[in-house]
Amino acid sequence: MYERLEMAPPDAILGLTEAFKKDSNPDKINLGVGVYKDAQGETPVLESVKQAEARIISATKTKGYLPIPGSAEFGAVTRELLFGKDHVLTTSGRAITAHTPGGTGALRVASDFVKRCFSDATIWMSAPTWANHPAVFGAAGLKTAEYPYYDGATQSIVFDGMLEGLGKAARGDLVLLHACCHNPSGKDLSLEQWRQTAALIKERGLLPLVDFAYQGFGDGLEDDAAGLRIVCDTVDELLICSSYSKNFGLYRDRCGALTLVGASADAAACAFSHVEKAIRANYSNPPAHGGAIVTTIVRDESLRAQWEREVAEMRDRINGMRQLFVDTLREVGVTRDFSFITQQRGMFSFSGLTREQVAELRSKYAIYIVGSGRINVAGMTEGNMKALCSAIAEVL
Ligand SMILES: Cc1ncc(COP(=O)(O)O)c(C=O)c1O
Repeated sequence: MYERLEMAPPDAILGLTEAFKKDSNPDKINLGVGVYKDAQGETPVLESVKQAEARIISATKTKGYLPIPGSAEFGAVTRELLFGKDHVLTTSGRAITAHTPGGTGALRVASDFVKRCFSDATIWMSAPTWANHPAVFGAAGLKTAEYPYYDGATQSIVFDGMLEGLGKAARGDLVLLHACCHNPSGKDLSLEQWRQTAALIKERGLLPLVDFAYQGFGDGLEDDAAGLRIVCDTVDELLICSSYSKNFGLYRDRCGALTLVGASADAAACAFSHVEKAIRANYSNPPAHGGAIVTTIVRDESLRAQWEREVAEMRDRINGMRQLFVDTLREVGVTRDFSFITQQRGMFSFSGLTREQVAELRSKYAIYIVGSGRINVAGMTEGNMKALCSAIAEVL
């Protein structure tokens, strides 16, 4: 049977990493996949994580299964990070959390839940959005549609177009929102725009699905949750997909969470029973290790303080690279205005480079960028900046 199959195309982003690994050029630069890199170009294990792991390994007495939604304490920690320690949603039972394999796992479980309970709903995604969003929703059998979000020509959010686009959604449809560090544009809604979006969602009876993959990478752990908290204060029901891949550096431990918010604790418990059915038929119950790390760190005062310092360090490095990139481009003689890059947040920016320029950067200079021109700023270092900007100057 397999002889009849044609090769599936490589993943647009992960495929780029494979090509990068095979490239023998010693000066190669990878600005493709969304992984944090430090000043040495490495993706480090955080010090707080190493210490938590040492404690976990000596204390672990069993490898027995976790419950379907994972550990209750991990759920409580997740809600504390999302809503704040004393928020009503952290304590009232109106929000229930499942530990999932990564943020992708959370998105898939959310999609299966929606398909199971509201099979006719369409999910509205920003144009553009993370390339895996339509793939995950589509794999679960959901209908997808787009609302305008970002205009590459003006490097800005098209907010009127966004509201108009969302105005076409039918009651009961879902709206995907990036909590912060919008992937791929790096442009986030202002607080006023969050308020207007939340009001429209409420008025039209839509269900928000907030994807929160970069908490702490924008302006800070609390600041980055401000938009989400506006949505929570406006509507009674939503879904939140967290990822701990970036802010705890737990990429391969596959640690994320789906938090379901309902109008009452009873309504949330009822809806969550369907989330559990979706999990049971998918991966049954989550892998424990990443969740234990997150729980150990957040619940220990000194580890938490250390982790917060490490997140701030990653954030500051990314923002520092944004500024250095813009300055160095100017220094090597690029006259086009790239200053918008310093206004964006998180690891990604739409550089405005064309597909042809991206292809030339790869073939001539071993610089790897996603075809859309999206660059991972975290792949830049003080060491590779001059070579990178000189190459960009050449292709421009
Ligand atoms: C917007 C967005 N959502 C979700 C994810 C998924 O993260 P994870 O690696 O935890 O599955 C990513 C990862 O790149 C992302 O950029």
